[in-house]
Amino acid sequence: MKLENVRGMRDIWGEEAENQRELEIRAGEYLSSLGYESVRLPSIEFYELIAAKAGPELLDSLYEFKDKGGRSVALTPELTASAARFFATKLRDRPKPVRIWYVGQCFRYDEPQRGRYRQFTQLGAELYGSASPLADAELAFAAAGILKRVGIAPSLKVGNVGFVKRFLTENGAKESALGQILRAADHGDYQPAMEAVQGDAKAFLKDLEGNPQDLEGWLRREQSPSRKKALKELAQIVELLKAMMPEAKVIPDLLFVRGLAYYTGFIFEAFSSGLDSALLGGGRYDNLLKELGGPATPAVGFAAGVDRIALLMKHPTQPVTGTIFPLDEHSLTKAARAFSALDGMGFELYPSITGAREAMSRALKASHRFVVLAGELDGEDAVTIRDLKKREQQRVQLTDLKQILQEADRDAPREGPNERARHGHPL
Ligand code: HAM
Repeated sequence: MKLENVRGMRDIWGEEAENQRELEIRAGEYLSSLGYESVRLPSIEFYELIAAKAGPELLDSLYEFKDKGGRSVALTPELTASAARFFATKLRDRPKPVRIWYVGQCFRYDEPQRGRYRQFTQLGAELYGSASPLADAELAFAAAGILKRVGIAPSLKVGNVGFVKRFLTENGAKESALGQILRAADHGDYQPAMEAVQGDAKAFLKDLEGNPQDLEGWLRREQSPSRKKALKELAQIVELLKAMMPEAKVIPDLLFVRGLAYYTGFIFEAFSSGLDSALLGGGRYDNLLKELGGPATPAVGFAAGVDRIALLMKHPTQPVTGTIFPLDEHSLTKAARAFSALDGMGFELYPSITGAREAMSRALKASHRFVVLAGELDGEDAVTIRDLKKREQQRVQLTDLKQILQEADRDAPREGPNERARHGHPL
């Protein structure tokens, strides 16, 4: 048997795993503070639910199979359909708007590359029961707020898929060809759109392609009432976002479309330097609930790629700062008491009896700052602590241990492992 990962599946460990955990905690706390309720969704759904509005691209990448009971099921490629099922079956009678957030596993048989995996984690939020632009702005604000909480200042690309769809259909594109044209446009290829539209629209599209960010200019020029309405909606959301976060980069893109087939209006994605692909994406999908057989409910939401965001995060929150070593048979209980006294302060316990020299050498190799030596010589209730940064050593009563190490830590702020590795250890 070969011991290896299945292609596209990965073990996540070390700083990356810490970053993912920290992101999930901070994002969860933040979304709860905005009124979103947490839900855990399953990773297997009926194929029918997933396929209903997935679009061909997502369907091509679906892990689908028959379970042992012969049911056609699929691993969730995203969680908006699951969340909609959950809302329609469990929360439909609640006063609106209903807000939920989730974190869960997603599976897409994509071509693996940096930031693109076959199993990945999405952290998302959905708001049901409001068609207001204020709700669209709230979701984009919350999405940017999550990134801000982990030290990422994103730029937000915003658009209105209704504008693009109407532009195409009002200028000769067939409704049935829309999916294929939009998918190509999503990959930056406007040729199919160009071939589908007729007359003046070709020149119009060419102009638009050269200057898709000039929302105000296009709004002034736009003649079609339905397209003007879509652009006005987008302009209003941009204005709301500027009022909510004046410092943020919000970039309209009138030709922006997204792969999923359920969006009906506002759409957005967030980007940051260091990664070409989107950190998160979302938008308004006012027809999905009804199309799935649920109550007609306007909705808007987003999902963030936890794996992608974790790649850009800088530091884990609580690096290990020291190790507790039992030096002899009789000191195991003392080491255990020291471990308990320092609980939550970044101290790990070395589980075997070790000589003081080896303890020092291990601590230096691990770039830990403190060594706590629990040995018989210090007496029953005391340990020796060594500060490898200050090159100091002292005997400390177990009852004082926590306070003394807290004070020592305050004197010289703790560094993350990255800095320690970069600057080298002072000893
Ligand atoms: P999406 O744009 O397909 O939207 O995915 C959202 C995010 O998931 C992406 O921006 C990306 O960060 C991450 N992601 C997608 N595919 C992969 C992959 N293969 N590997 C790693 N990360 C990936 C949705 O899924 C919608 N359900 C979002 C939404 C929620 N719209 C409304 N509500």
